[in-house]
Amino acid sequence: MDKFVIEGPTPLKGTIPISGSKNAALPLMATAILGDSPTTITNVPKLRDVYTFNNVIRVTGTHVDFNEEEATLTIDPKHLSHLEAPYELVRKMRASFYMLGALVGKFGQAKVSLPGGCAWGPRPVDLHLDGMREMGVDIELDQGYVIASAPKQMKGGTFKLEPSSVGATINLVLASVLRAEEFTIKNAAREPDAVLLCETLSEMGANIEGIGTDTLTIRGVDSLSGIEVRNASDRIETGTFMIAAAMHPESDVTITNADVDDLGHFPETFRKTGVDMTIEDSTIHIKAPDTINPTSIKTKVYPGFPTDLQAQWSTMMTQAEGSCSVTDTIYDDRFSYVPEVTRLGADMDVEQNTVHIKGKTPLKGASVMSTDLRASVSLVLAGMVAKGTTDVLRIYHLDRGYEDLEQKLRNVGANIKRVDQDA
Ligand code: UD1
Repeated sequence: MDKFVIEGPTPLKGTIPISGSKNAALPLMATAILGDSPTTITNVPKLRDVYTFNNVIRVTGTHVDFNEEEATLTIDPKHLSHLEAPYELVRKMRASFYMLGALVGKFGQAKVSLPGGCAWGPRPVDLHLDGMREMGVDIELDQGYVIASAPKQMKGGTFKLEPSSVGATINLVLASVLRAEEFTIKNAAREPDAVLLCETLSEMGANIEGIGTDTLTIRGVDSLSGIEVRNASDRIETGTFMIAAAMHPESDVTITNADVDDLGHFPETFRKTGVDMTIEDSTIHIKAPDTINPTSIKTKVYPGFPTDLQAQWSTMMTQAEGSCSVTDTIYDDRFSYVPEVTRLGADMDVEQNTVHIKGKTPLKGASVMSTDLRASVSLVLAGMVAKGTTDVLRIYHLDRGYEDLEQKLRNVGANIKRVDQDA
């Protein structure tokens, strides 16, 4: 198992290119299954979750070709015949559950493992299943598997997502585009990943009304054809590097290849910290402030503050001059990084779904443990401003979601290396 060894503090200076988005790529990959011909997705990141999903798709007999040099993935569903997503793979990554919508949508049959829990508490799939039932899919649960079957033509209906859910929106769209007479999703996710999925399906021939709004109406079509589609740039990676650039007063960073329109209200909120930021097309230039203004946030659905940047934001706020609080309204229990950042010297206190942070506290290097993807990257951010050596253990979480993280950070001056933690 690998760990990162970080020597700090170091300012970051230079250019960081943003990779393709993990959370946008996975639904596009599921979409490819619905086509009658191959689909090519460009700007695909080399991440563990992408490799895992490639394998999930391959189990079905689908041909998947990942040209890593070109960051291009070609998916040909011609020989798809095995309508199953097994537990051994689904347990590694929740998004494998998109196979339920894709398989039942295309073939009217699927056997897909329930995804199980995750590092920050239970993450149910009740909305995915109830929505499909409303649509007309017959759903049974058997030994940890969802067994789904649907007639060639389902009547459809209306289903309201409470709360709004990215994954359920994606699964319900996948299940309905080829089979439901008319299906309406209310309070649908407006996250860019769900919007890109709908736009892509429309280009393949689907009939989806209301794309980009919170009400989607899907009218089933007879067939969809494969296309070439560009995957979005990763908005969470972009936000993470924006935060990294603000944390050391001498940092001066240019972020390139960003899809700025996918950031929602985040840049406005980020400006409140006192950073000097200019945005031009896909380039964001950030000069860190001398002192960071304490800035309280609450996570919300898009275009509000993303829960996937909550841990990074709190970590930045340990370096702000004063107190603030960070509340996660999407997940109650996503604070596993707090005891770890506290080990480095932060003053943070969790009360229900809020962390209260008192800054500015000097951070000092220590060994810390990654618990999930976004928690792990916040430990890296903390390590880069902490004095001395920080060991971030169990970084395999990071390989799920940040392409070439240490290389990108080293290129802008961070002193970070990957070593075998058991050596
Ligand atoms: C996706 C993202 C994840 C992000 C999250 C919220 C991917 C692969 N993952 O996860 O990085 O943190 O959106 O932006 O894109 N809920 C239910 N029942 C359900 C489904 C969800 O109650 O059946 C709840 C969840 O517990 C949570 C809320 O809905 O409180 C939002 O979750 P959801 O949008 O579904 O998250 P994911 O799609 O799993």
